[in-house]
Amino acid sequence: MKTLVLTAHPDLSKSQINRQWFDALASAPGVTTRDLSRIGGPTMTFDLEIEQALLLAHERIVFQFPFYWYSAPPVLKAWMDQTLGNGFAYGPGGDKLKGRELVILVSTGGPADSYHAGGYNNFSMDELLKPFQQTALLAGMTYLRPFVFHGMAVADAKRIEASVSEMLTHITNPELDPKVKLSRLLKEIEENSGEVETAA
Ligand SMILES: Cc1cc2nc3c(=O)[nH]c(=O)nc-3n(C[C@H](O)[C@H](O)[C@H](O)COP(=O)(O)O)c2cc1C
Repeated sequence: MKTLVLTAHPDLSKSQINRQWFDALASAPGVTTRDLSRIGGPTMTFDLEIEQALLLAHERIVFQFPFYWYSAPPVLKAWMDQTLGNGFAYGPGGDKLKGRELVILVSTGGPADSYHAGGYNNFSMDELLKPFQQTALLAGMTYLRPFVFHGMAVADAKRIEASVSEMLTHITNPELDPKVKLSRLLKEIEENSGEVETAA
């Protein structure tokens, strides 16, 4: 499975966690990484042909970003507005992303317990990430479980470092889609029951 990571950080050189994730993903097999701020430049302008060809060449698309005002930094929105066009991602003939997967990879400043009813952020990450989920659904993509790292405001170097391997396991997991995992498990059960019958 080929994975395309689109990283939306205003300045990765000043990042504490997304830079480490970006570097680890860049050297993972089967993963293509793109620093959107560097590629789009100050005007956040993208080459439609290049961006769409890259999407078509990968089965899993990852949006990586630090959580800014309950969303992504603006460079991701600029990329989406320019790339996910009518006839490509939606509308007549807009089935080019159908069947591909979308995974959100995000770090937040606030702690995990703030992202619940009653917490100071009130809403869960699943709720706050809904615009990305619906973007995927409109494009016919499968929206998968996001990888969320909470509490950057107080995270120490050890916790950040430990997140790198957890993040890699999540992002490169070929069975992140529960349907894919379930069909493998059902197949195994079927094969095992065949073996039991043969033995009997
Ligand atoms: C403009 C701005 C907005 C932010 N908004 C949020 C937010 O809505 N919720 C939150 O938990 N953290 C927020 N943060 C904290 C960032 O999510 C945190 O600094 C980031 O995840 C750290 O990632 P980095 O080390 O890769 O830069 C915000 C930070 C900035 C600079």
